[in-house]
Amino acid sequence: MKLDKIIAVRTAKTLYRDGNLAIKVFNEDFSKSDVLNEALNQSRVENTLLNVPQIHEVAKIDGKWAIVSDYIDGKTLTRLIEEEPSKKSALIAQMADIQLEINRQKVAKLNKHSEKMREKIDACGLNATVRYELLTRLRSLRNDEVLCHGDLTLSNIIIDNDGKPFIIDWSHATQGSAAADTARAYLRFRLAGYIDEADEYLDIYCEKANTPKQVIHKWFPIVAATQLAKGLETEYEFLSEWANVVEYE
Ligand SMILES: Nc1ncnc2c1ncn2[C@@H]1O[C@H](COP(=O)(O)OP(=O)(O)O)[C@@H](O)[C@H]1O
Ligand SMILES: [Mg+2]
Repeated sequence: MKLDKIIAVRTAKTLYRDGNLAIKVFNEDFSKSDVLNEALNQSRVENTLLNVPQIHEVAKIDGKWAIVSDYIDGKTLTRLIEEEPSKKSALIAQMADIQLEINRQKVAKLNKHSEKMREKIDACGLNATVRYELLTRLRSLRNDEVLCHGDLTLSNIIIDNDGKPFIIDWSHATQGSAAADTARAYLRFRLAGYIDEADEYLDIYCEKANTPKQVIHKWFPIVAATQLAKGLETEYEFLSEWANVVEYE
């Protein structure tokens, strides 16, 4: 495998292209089980109706774990919006359609979203009183078992040269509630500084899904707390405000 053509560089990983293959190489200290979990999730989602790059190999390259899958020749929604801002609304609407399509799928063997969220709330660093409120809220919300992407963003959708949308980056995939998955997508827009786009996404999604916005809003404190567990200092103030839902008597 040739690793001379870089597609993307992240803090803990680098993406390369070698012909028809995309090679996601994780840094040496990246958790092995997280890499294998990502590959397992992706391979499970390959069996749905969604367009997902097929995995060819999980390998160790120069001491680093790597996931080798189809290279999708196309552009992410982020790139398409940058190139043609006039198409922004249409592309955000397309992402909402993709969200709906993802949440129509079922992948029975994936981890449970509610369990993952419970663990993250436990680890979010907020005080016990706030955590109690969040866990109570989590139990009270409708808990489905549909496919959740867990990190749906404009950069995790690639439109190939035939106009076919491919969904990538399945490391956070679980089975859970569509509303929770949508709340997370909304939060990701907000954290990236796309406030208008976040609201536009929510409006169009709720219209297409015939879902009241209040149903998505109820998940905001929970998804904020789960994101807090990542411990990113720059996000702390915003997220802790969103996660703090305690009503003192
Ligand atoms: N299979 C692929 N084909 C083409 N480009 C890809 C592929 N996988 C990833 N990329 C590109 O690399 C970027 C980062 O990959 P991604 O798997 O989303 O990593 P991260 O976990 O860091 O977000 C994507 O936004 C996309 O531009
Ligand atoms: Mg990504």
